[in-house]
Amino acid sequence: MTSQKVVCLGAGIVGGCTQVVFASKCKTHDFYVVDIDEERIKGWNNFKPNYYEPGLNKLLKTCLNKNLFFTTDFENTLKDATLIFLSVGTPTKQRGEMKGIGTNLSYIESCCRMIAKYAKNEKVIVIEKSTVPVGTAQKITNFLQEYNKNETENEKENENETTKENKKKQKQIVVLSNPEFLAEGTAIKNLQHPDRVLIGGPNTEFGKYAQEQLKQLYKGWVPEEKIFFSNTWSTELSKLTSNAMLAQRVSSINSISQICEEIGAEVTQVSKNMGSDPRIGSRFLNASVGFGGSCFEKDILNLIYLCEHYHLYVVAKYWKSVLELNNHQKLRFAKNIADTMFQNLENKKITILGFTFKKNTDDVRGSAAIDVCNYLLGEGAILSIYDPKAKPKHIKLSLKGYNENQLIICDSVSNAVIDSHALVVLTEWDEFTQIDLSKCYQKMIHPSYIFDGRNIINRKSAQKIGFNIYSVGFPKNK
Ligand SMILES: NC(=O)c1ccc[n+]([C@@H]2O[C@H](COP(=O)([O-])OP(=O)(O)OC[C@H]3O[C@@H](n4cnc5c(N)ncnc54)[C@H](O)[C@@H]3O)[C@@H](O)[C@H]2O)c1
Repeated sequence: MTSQKVVCLGAGIVGGCTQVVFASKCKTHDFYVVDIDEERIKGWNNFKPNYYEPGLNKLLKTCLNKNLFFTTDFENTLKDATLIFLSVGTPTKQRGEMKGIGTNLSYIESCCRMIAKYAKNEKVIVIEKSTVPVGTAQKITNFLQEYNKNETENEKENENETTKENKKKQKQIVVLSNPEFLAEGTAIKNLQHPDRVLIGGPNTEFGKYAQEQLKQLYKGWVPEEKIFFSNTWSTELSKLTSNAMLAQRVSSINSISQICEEIGAEVTQVSKNMGSDPRIGSRFLNASVGFGGSCFEKDILNLIYLCEHYHLYVVAKYWKSVLELNNHQKLRFAKNIADTMFQNLENKKITILGFTFKKNTDDVRGSAAIDVCNYLLGEGAILSIYDPKAKPKHIKLSLKGYNENQLIICDSVSNAVIDSHALVVLTEWDEFTQIDLSKCYQKMIHPSYIFDGRNIINRKSAQKIGFNIYSVGFPKNK
């Protein structure tokens, strides 16, 4: 395959990790990642990405400044790019029409403006990696074509021999959808061994050419039968619905966890019994304090927005219920802590184990820990928080309405538990399965409680030591 200059706009988890894996797999191409955030780019260039992701640093060392480059120079990078990935954030809107539901496309729009201004190649292939509302590829296409037309018309007014020549080679633009399915914590593994790669694009001659170019990029390591082609709308929708279905499974098992607690069943047994039916499957059936992260809620909201736009109110209500159940699960978990501890948390020290939204990441965005901790702080508790990877400044920024003396960020479990009334497990870090519970018990105030939001603490051992333990989906005090 001929050498390509691949550019990715956005050096976040998705932009950075995808391009590191591409660069390590396609040595014949050059990969450039461009971001507006200078600090972030500096971090990548100093082999210190802003994120913790297993395997990332090792792989980065194999390609940085060889065929992978990080920069803030849009103009020079974009001018001769052949494939341009969009990997910028697409957060939920925080103001205006559809606030809290619709998607803020301002970062996507600013990328389009950069591409329109600087990309000078005759053939411009733009690829959506970001998760976007259905129909965004069309919006981007319209924008870029409109810009191109205006530019050509301006040129016409000042026509000379050179522009006549340029006109003969008018820019061809196509936008493909190629959503990313990596999961934080296993991003590198997922990218190296994807379950599937989706490519959506128009059925035009140039559309087909572009899809072939993108396929060639993956072909070096992804088996052909795992590369699926579909129309752009199907591809865009598949990303939203994949996340919505995963979140729905978590809410389904969490709804069952509540039944288990009432009737005396154990949710882990129920999950195992159900999940061994291959039609159901065992994954994503762990009951917990609730799902978090920057994607599930946002993508379901996106789906709800789509349904409401097409007046599909019953369908919208169905997906809303997945989010309602998740919020309910977080709240009932937090309330149970207060209810169990004399309905009084005023000035009681509570140890929080884990703050990231899942293990093996330092990402706290949308973490269930945020809602649980905010509830406990609101009740007057003092939180001593330990997380192996979350950055203290991110923890502090995500909590609200607390006094400085209510928050202690610790560097180990053993420091965090001193004089604490309860241990609250909010992330399933492997380290927490190895805790010396007897030592913790000795350092804590009695009666001592464990509230296990991830079902990783051995209930029998904890009870034998003297703890009162509450695990999601288990009968209380049994
Ligand atoms: N995080 C995930 O697990 C995951 C998985 C799959 C898909 N996605 C989707 O991928 C997209 C990116 O997610 P992320 O977690 O990497 O986001 P992120 O917030 O970590 O990174 C986004 C980056 O885009 C940069 N940016 C903003 N405007 C820019 C511009 N005009 N030009 C260049 N860079 C710009 C920001 O500075 C930031 O570095 C989102 O749409 C998200 O929904 C995320």
